[in-house]
Amino acid sequence: MKRYLDFNATCPPVAAALDAVNQAATEAPGNPSSLHWAGRAARRVVDDSRDKLAKFIDCESGSIVFTSGGTEADNIAIHSVLESAKSGRVVCTAIEHPAVLKPLQRMSEQGLDIVFVRPDKNGIVTTESMIAAINGDTLLVCMMLINNESGAIQPVQEVAEHCRRHGIPMLVDAVQALGKIPVNFQKLGVDFMSLSAHKIGGLKGVGALLVRRGVKLQELTPGGGQERGRRSGTENVPGIAAFAAALGEIDFTALGSIRDTFEQQLKIQIPKVRIISEHAPRAANTSLIILPGMDGETLLMQLDLAGFAVASGSACSSGKREASHVLLSMGLNESVARSSILVSFGPGNSSEDAHALVTALVSSCNRLKGMAGPAA
Ligand SMILES: Cc1ncc(COP(=O)(O)O)c(C=O)c1O
Repeated sequence: MKRYLDFNATCPPVAAALDAVNQAATEAPGNPSSLHWAGRAARRVVDDSRDKLAKFIDCESGSIVFTSGGTEADNIAIHSVLESAKSGRVVCTAIEHPAVLKPLQRMSEQGLDIVFVRPDKNGIVTTESMIAAINGDTLLVCMMLINNESGAIQPVQEVAEHCRRHGIPMLVDAVQALGKIPVNFQKLGVDFMSLSAHKIGGLKGVGALLVRRGVKLQELTPGGGQERGRRSGTENVPGIAAFAAALGEIDFTALGSIRDTFEQQLKIQIPKVRIISEHAPRAANTSLIILPGMDGETLLMQLDLAGFAVASGSACSSGKREASHVLLSMGLNESVARSSILVSFGPGNSSEDAHALVTALVSSCNRLKGMAGPAA
C-alpha cells in the first residue's frame, strides 16, 4: 500500500484545481495579451484569479505578480532591493529556504554584509535576536513565516512592525504558511511576500510575489511587459486558474490530531525519539523527528520500500547529501542532524497512516540496528 506523507514538499493537485486547469485550457485558450475574444477570455481568467487571491490573502489585486513559484518570487524581491547595492546589511534568518539563502550568499560575495540569525533551541528565530541584528545600514530583512522542515511558526508580525517603523523593506516567505495558518498581507504591512501554488493543491511551477503599493520592482526577465511590466512572459493561465481554485480547499489545521497521534505513539515505541520544535507554535501537519543513532537517508529508503513517502531533513547539493541547515543552525551536530525524518501530513491521511508509519519506523530501526552488529 502506498502512503504519501510528504505534503511540505508538495501537495498533489486538488480536484478543484484540476477542473480549473481543464476549464481554462479549453474555454480560455488564447494569449491574455491578445485583443480578440480568445485573448480576452484568458485575460478574464487571470484577472478573476488575481482578484480571488487578493481577497483570500487581503491585498490589493495590483499587488500580485504571478511567478513560476516561490523560488522566483523570493529571487525577484531580493534582486529588486539589492541589485545595485554595493554595501549595506541584510538580516535574514539562518533557517530560510535556499530560494532566499542562495541569492543572499551570492550577494555577500559582492560585498554586502549578510547576517544570518540563528534560531533558539525550539527552532524559533526570536524577535529580539532579529531586532538586535538590524542596524542603520540594513537594506532588507528576510524572515519566513513557517519553516518547511520544523513547521515552527516564526514571530514575523513583531519583526514586521519594527521594520515598518524604521522604513526597512521586509520579505516574508509565506510559501509554507499559506493554508496552514491565516496569512494577511495588509495586516503584516511588509513590502514583499512570496507564495507557491503547489503547497496548497495547485500546480507546480506557479506562485506569486505580493508587492506593497508604491514599491518598485526591478524586472528580472525583461520582455513583453506582462504583469504590469513587473514580470514578462506569457502568463501560465491554467496554472494561475488552478492556484486560485485551490485556495481554501485544504484545511491543514485539521491534521493536528493525526500528527499528535503519530508523535504520541512514536514516543511510546521509541522513547529516545526527539521531536523538533515540539514546544514551539508549529504547523499542525508537520513532524520533524530525530531518531538517535539512525541514518535518516537509509531510513527514508527503507520506508520507501514499504510504500511510505516521507522526507529527511537533508538537502542534495552537487550530488552530495548535506545535513539540514535548519537543524545545524539549531545547534545539532552533523550526525544528529542526519538522523532526522520529516513527516508532513495532508488531505487523505488518517490516524491509520500515522499508526502504520510508527510500526514501519520501529521495524526499520530494529532492522538497521541489527545490521550494525551487536557493538552498535
Ligand atoms: C519556505 C519555502 N520557500 C520557497 C520554496 C520554493 O517554492 P517553489 O517550489 O514554488 O519554487 C519552498 C519549497 O519547498 C519552501 O518550502
